[in-house]
Amino acid sequence: MNYRHSFHAGNFADLVKHALVLWLLKERQERGPVTVIDTHAGAGLYDLSGDAVRSKEAEAGVARLMTAANRPPLIEALAAEVSALNPEGGVRFYPGSPVLIARGLKDGDRYLGFEFNPPVQAMLSEALTDWPAAEGRAGDGYVEALKAARTVKGPLVLIDPPFERPDDYVRSAETAAAILRHDRTATVAIWTPLKDMETFDGFIRRLEEAKIGRVLVAEARLRPLNNPMKMNGCTMTVVNPPSGAEAAAAEICGWTAETLGDAGARAEVWRAG
Ligand SMILES: C[S@@+](CC[C@H](N)C(=O)[O-])C[C@H]1O[C@@H](n2cnc3c(N)ncnc32)[C@H](O)[C@@H]1O
Repeated sequence: MNYRHSFHAGNFADLVKHALVLWLLKERQERGPVTVIDTHAGAGLYDLSGDAVRSKEAEAGVARLMTAANRPPLIEALAAEVSALNPEGGVRFYPGSPVLIARGLKDGDRYLGFEFNPPVQAMLSEALTDWPAAEGRAGDGYVEALKAARTVKGPLVLIDPPFERPDDYVRSAETAAAILRHDRTATVAIWTPLKDMETFDGFIRRLEEAKIGRVLVAEARLRPLNNPMKMNGCTMTVVNPPSGAEAAAAEICGWTAETLGDAGARAEVWRAG
């Protein structure tokens, strides 16, 4: 298990994922208290003066977010979160999904994040100490999230694996299907990289065949998909999306492709099934 999200924190794909997660959380809170379950939580908070400097991914992502003019509302909402963590200006600190969600919790809400890698799990617990309703636990997120989802009604679930293992696509789809089969009111958002369409199509087909309800796919492509070795874009696939999700995803992916992409960049939001 070598994946270190600290190299990728604050990249364009984190921006897409986190802006949509923020919107999904706010939308769900309008319908009452929510439990958010994060299968792959990571460290919770990232200091971009570390590994991220070498990767330059944050430089091409969150650094450009913070200097961009005319940010649409859902992008502005993420920029406001980043600003709050950097009161002296700049973008040294970037929130992972745990801190981002913990900061947004309201009375009666809970956050439960799982992390497999022990040193990262220790960082996660430390990052969440200020929020008693937010908890980082050790464990296999696919297995534990399913157990946790069975104890609550209508959870919001984020599945965000490293996709370094070949079975991450299958396990993500199977976990989403199991959660939705148990509770049709759950919403599950799955992040994936976009390298080539073949792999992604197989993943979507698996979700469709599970017959677990509506599936919304939000793609942000930074360049044409002609080099399958590269992360050319990313997707957020939302199973049982709330109303308004299509417009929210279009705003987020559209801004990302237009502002951070190459000449061949584009955003696509579509329904599967
Ligand atoms: C992409 S990062 C998560 C980023 C985080 N969701 C965020 O948005 O800030 C993936 C994390 O999953 C962890 N991981 C890998 N396999 C796991 C598993 N089966 N269960 C839980 N965590 C796992 C890795 O150690 C890594 O920290």
